[in-house]
Amino acid sequence: MRHKFFKPYVILCGIGALTLQIGLSISEGFTFDIRLLVFLVLLIMNSHYRVISVTNANAFSLNFPLLFPILVYFGAPWASVMASVGLISLDELELEWPVFLFNRASLGLAAGLSAVAFQRVGGLTNLAIALPMALFVYTLVNHGLLIIGNYFRGNAPLEVGSMLLGSLKTIPASAALAGLFYVSYSHFDILGLLGAYFVFITVRSGAFLGHLESNYRVSVIKALLRAVYAKDPDLMAHLENVAYYSKRLAKACHYPIWKLNMFDEASYFHDIGKLDISDAILKKEGRLSRDELEEMRSHPLRGIEFLKEVPLPTTHKKMVENITGSHHERYDGTGYPLQLKGEEIPLEARIVAVADT
Ligand SMILES: [Fe+2]
Repeated sequence: MRHKFFKPYVILCGIGALTLQIGLSISEGFTFDIRLLVFLVLLIMNSHYRVISVTNANAFSLNFPLLFPILVYFGAPWASVMASVGLISLDELELEWPVFLFNRASLGLAAGLSAVAFQRVGGLTNLAIALPMALFVYTLVNHGLLIIGNYFRGNAPLEVGSMLLGSLKTIPASAALAGLFYVSYSHFDILGLLGAYFVFITVRSGAFLGHLESNYRVSVIKALLRAVYAKDPDLMAHLENVAYYSKRLAKACHYPIWKLNMFDEASYFHDIGKLDISDAILKKEGRLSRDELEEMRSHPLRGIEFLKEVPLPTTHKKMVENITGSHHERYDGTGYPLQLKGEEIPLEARIVAVADT
């Protein structure tokens, strides 16, 4: 039912964008400058690896900073046209036409209205207010149209809250980068812009590699554990459940968001010490003898020994050790191996203990 409204919505957005562009160019003039071609190449290069579709909400992080000098020096009509035409990747040509048109229209509207907002609050004479305002309008229009488009398209609902939080978090960085591109361009012309852009891309590639490396590490750990536990799929499922519930519990406990992903590694590792316990004890049915129980209860400390061999990043290491070493401690001090009590037990270990149970 909703799906029926997607095409009319897209056409309406397209007409809106076109009207805005024609209106702006009549009121402000529309002169061509050869530098715009360089901007166009940068915009397309930047977008090529990121297809902006109605389900991909965070694909415009570097777009606004690149549009900002256009908006300042070439005015609102060019900002709008360049966003429509430049923020495109070759993969997008394969999208169905309504989605393609929607992307062009929503970016054109977002950039055009953002440029108008920039000028309305004083432009360059009031840069400290006008720049964040332009970014805010750009983000708001883009997100707003996206949420509505997604609703009409009948896709799974976007997580609006986390999407808005995500974009709010990027606003200071985007504003700073927009400022940097603007200053580089205004002082050193197009060469300044190119220099700033490529320095930024180099830094970002480094951060991206770090992100890839962390994903890679988690997948290697999972593969390793999967191999180890191949004979006991239930145990693997248990570890995955512990990772899943730990993260949710940690989020509910207001654990710092940037540490949440560490729960993946930490939860997969928490029982790693059991690899050092003999099968006769691990798989024994019935009660364990006192000595056997003692050996079983040594798995947290054996886990920590095991972890000394694993080259985890220092930021993760402490947390993984805390979880591995203390996930059998109990709040009333009756746990093991160190009979820690209450808040002596690290929060992450208490979280995993609950998920484990
Ligand atoms: Fe355990």
